[in-house]
Amino acid sequence: MAEIEQFLEWLACPVCGGDLSRTADGLACPEGHSFDIAKQGYANLLGPQGKTHTADRPEMLDARTRVLGAGLFDPVTEAIREALLEFDGSEVGGPVVDLGTGTGFHLERALEELPERFGLGLDNSKYAARRAARCHPRAAAAVADIWEGLPLKDRSVALILDVFAPRNGPEIRRVLGPGGLAIVVTGAPDHLAGIPEGFGMITVDPEKRERLARTMEDLDQAVESAAIGWTMSLTPDEVADLVRMGPGAGRVEPEAFAAEVEALPDRTEVLGRAELHLFSVT
Ligand SMILES: C[S@@+](CC[C@H](N)C(=O)[O-])C[C@H]1O[C@@H](n2cnc3c(N)ncnc32)[C@H](O)[C@@H]1O
Repeated sequence: MAEIEQFLEWLACPVCGGDLSRTADGLACPEGHSFDIAKQGYANLLGPQGKTHTADRPEMLDARTRVLGAGLFDPVTEAIREALLEFDGSEVGGPVVDLGTGTGFHLERALEELPERFGLGLDNSKYAARRAARCHPRAAAAVADIWEGLPLKDRSVALILDVFAPRNGPEIRRVLGPGGLAIVVTGAPDHLAGIPEGFGMITVDPEKRERLARTMEDLDQAVESAAIGWTMSLTPDEVADLVRMGPGAGRVEPEAFAAEVEALPDRTEVLGRAELHLFSVT
């Protein structure tokens, strides 16, 4: 875990955009807007319009930890790693910022690939920020709402990661520095097909690619896009965790959920379908 003070040159007040400095109990800007630093080390940079109704709850993060730890999304991790290998950021200053960082899993791996960088995980879930703050010795985390705006200075960031999380193109454009890169991973329409309907999964919006293109249109160029496809052969517990970690979590009553898990065969074939998009800024 890095200290949030090490990120002050890049952070901005979420209310007025001013510089932040360290105070006795947190951070503050010259206008007097002040923000807590939790005892677990993450900063609370939610501004007045910030919302947390979409924030992951602890049990969702626990399920995500198990799924990622079991390697079920490794093809995504590998695709991000390959994109990072192509990133020649030697001329680009600033940190890696992971939007909707969750447990900090992808941030941690990105920092392993980029040994000179610091990394900041942003999430509107305080439970996620708590975990992401501890994901790597060069990482810190803050609670922030991607839709409200990013608590970062203009053109201050080298690399943005956004993996299965909300995308705010104008804000990504504003904070990426010259030569910066955004790596965006979205679910494709068949993602997680194979999970029985009784689990109440929310399917991926088929318009997602068009929406992504619209929100990112301010970026200078979409460098490339790649499809990531894989098949998972899952135990009933693994199927249950895929449901528990996603937006459909909690839609089915606990008893009905347990009955669905009970009815699963030893192995269920489930599709992984994602797209990785790279956007650059000059
Ligand atoms: C599907 S999870 C992905 C987590 C992580 N990127 C990964 O791939 O493991 C989405 C994350 O985005 C966060 N999130 C949802 N809405 C958000 C918002 N408006 N601002 C910031 N984070 C948000 C959730 O709390 C959750 O941690």
